[in-house]
Amino acid sequence: MTALDAFTPKVTELRFPSGFRWGTATAAYQIEGAASEDGRTPSIWDTFSRTPGKVHHGDTGDIAADHYHRMPEDVALMRRLGVTDYRFSVAWPRVQPTGRGPAVQKGLDFYRRLVDELLKAGIRPVATLYHWDLPQELENTGGWPQRETAQRFAEYATIMAEALGDRVATWTTLNEPWCAAFLGYGNGVHAPGRTSNLGSLRAAHHLNLAHGWAAQALRAALPDTAEVSLTLNLHALRPLTPSAEDLDAVRRIDAVANRIFLDPVFRGRLPDDLIRDTAGITDWSFVQGGDLTATSTPIDSLGINYYAPTVVAAGETESPSPWAGAEHHVRFLPAPGPRTAMDWPVDAGGLYELLTRLRDELPHIPLLVTENGAAYHDYADPSGHVHDPERIAYLHSHLTAVHQAIQDGVDVRGYFLWSLLDNFEWAYGYSKRFGIVHVDFATQRRTLKDSAAWYEQTIARNAVKKR
Ligand code: FCB
Repeated sequence: MTALDAFTPKVTELRFPSGFRWGTATAAYQIEGAASEDGRTPSIWDTFSRTPGKVHHGDTGDIAADHYHRMPEDVALMRRLGVTDYRFSVAWPRVQPTGRGPAVQKGLDFYRRLVDELLKAGIRPVATLYHWDLPQELENTGGWPQRETAQRFAEYATIMAEALGDRVATWTTLNEPWCAAFLGYGNGVHAPGRTSNLGSLRAAHHLNLAHGWAAQALRAALPDTAEVSLTLNLHALRPLTPSAEDLDAVRRIDAVANRIFLDPVFRGRLPDDLIRDTAGITDWSFVQGGDLTATSTPIDSLGINYYAPTVVAAGETESPSPWAGAEHHVRFLPAPGPRTAMDWPVDAGGLYELLTRLRDELPHIPLLVTENGAAYHDYADPSGHVHDPERIAYLHSHLTAVHQAIQDGVDVRGYFLWSLLDNFEWAYGYSKRFGIVHVDFATQRRTLKDSAAWYEQTIARNAVKKR
């Protein structure tokens, strides 16, 4: 220590800007349950989870965390944590069971009650219109590879805007269209489980179109108030080596995973290299005149979901592949470092890389981290406590990365922890626990994990400790 250090006040906390939005995030199919109540019809996830071999253990979202019946209790938990915002999704087949025609009042009423309860608790509602639960009837008529699905989505957006109006602070059109298009229609590990490169590219375009038309519908219904947003799971890509081949592998994945959404939404065009790379699959003639104007309807913020980085090298990946047009040129390698229960590496640097990239490429769009968190093998000990120090360390390092990005000029307005509750983790069923609140699925008992107490303190201080 120098003499000067002794007089310099030590910075012990990394403080976030005032007004920073602290939230938690969930999705309808993962928590609600009540799958056939009050007029709800099956979504593609109900069908998929009933298809043998698709979901771990044959788990379904029939009951999930029973949030449909326990919503006030769950909002009370969030109030206790002090969150300022709550990101939830609306189950399309609950409010418009066939994906067409008039809404079901009972379905709408659930979301009205949720929004009322949140506002009473002083929590801003952040609603996602599509978190993967397409009404099965719309899949039966072709799903996302069909243009008509995008039209149906815009009508559904109008129904929701009219029902919940300006009481919702932020409307997110889609959650992670990459997963919906490429896991749903490309390698088939998500619902509806189809495997077609052409289908996945058509789905990606129609999801972009659905986003643009829904953004227009929200603006038309809510001219002054709506903050309109989109959430992408942008891939933080790293080449294995700086060789030209590995850098080209990064370029290909960047085109089919990141720029396939960023360019239509923010630049009104498709990437030239994507069109070249996919020439053997399609000539993109399903993109009609005016589509790319619609997809680039201005929005107010961009949501980023981040869990782990992706290391790529030249090579060949498995088939069926979610990387249409890149599968014969790219392989994926495990990133080094400690792992979560998903076997995903813990590496907050990827989040910093994504945020600073967006600062450089899209400097005028405010950002929200709409998902970030980790699964671990949590259990309640004999005294009923759930100790999850690895999750606290994960959250700490990622919030430190967000703080550093803000210091470096990135306009990050908020952070939504995934997830409030343990839930149905898609193809992994109930085998992965992402919650800061433990759910005993046999009794539906909720127990705050240590990470929940940690998050509560973080929010109260508007800061994380400097390590
Ligand atoms: C994201 C999903 C979310 C959750 C997390 C772990 O891809 O948006 O529903 O499953 O992963």
